[in-house]
Amino acid sequence: MRISTELAKAINDQISYEASSTQAYVAIGSWCERTGYNGAATFFFEQAAEENTHMLKFVHYLNNAGAEAIIPATEKPKGNFDSLESTFQAGLKSEQTVTKLINNLVEIAEREKDRATYSFLQWFVSEQIEEETLFGTILQKFEIIGRDKLAIYQIDQSLASIRSEIMAKGDSQQPPAN
Ligand code: FEO
Repeated sequence: MRISTELAKAINDQISYEASSTQAYVAIGSWCERTGYNGAATFFFEQAAEENTHMLKFVHYLNNAGAEAIIPATEKPKGNFDSLESTFQAGLKSEQTVTKLINNLVEIAEREKDRATYSFLQWFVSEQIEEETLFGTILQKFEIIGRDKLAIYQIDQSLASIRSEIMAKGDSQQPPAN
């Protein structure tokens, strides 16, 4: 196995968090859908798919490193919310937690001089910057546009396509990837 037991365990913990995030975002999307926030529902179902992709990246990495990826059971996620804004507050908080967990994985890889895992984790470091930016930008909309019914309607309408718009803007500010 070309990864330490400690790092394999920490990555398995991350697999568990990504699996919980997947379910949490499906639950938020489901609440949005039944509440009539169709733009937000699209956004959160896409976010859930992204989290599932993150989980699989870690699963493949561990299995290919000769360790065992452990597929976890997940707890029932929160299924009801007070407002559209509160769903994005929950999302931002979760992404901030993920950033800390990824940074912790990077620290272990650094300490162990595991350059392959360190390099693998860099994609997640960048991804977390994007995810926090995305949720932060959406939360700003409530400050700028407002929280009355028309404002919420406009925000919801913008959410179905906001991911690609913000990511495209981010890409144009980055040097091209090689
Ligand atoms: Fe998998 Fe949103 O972090």
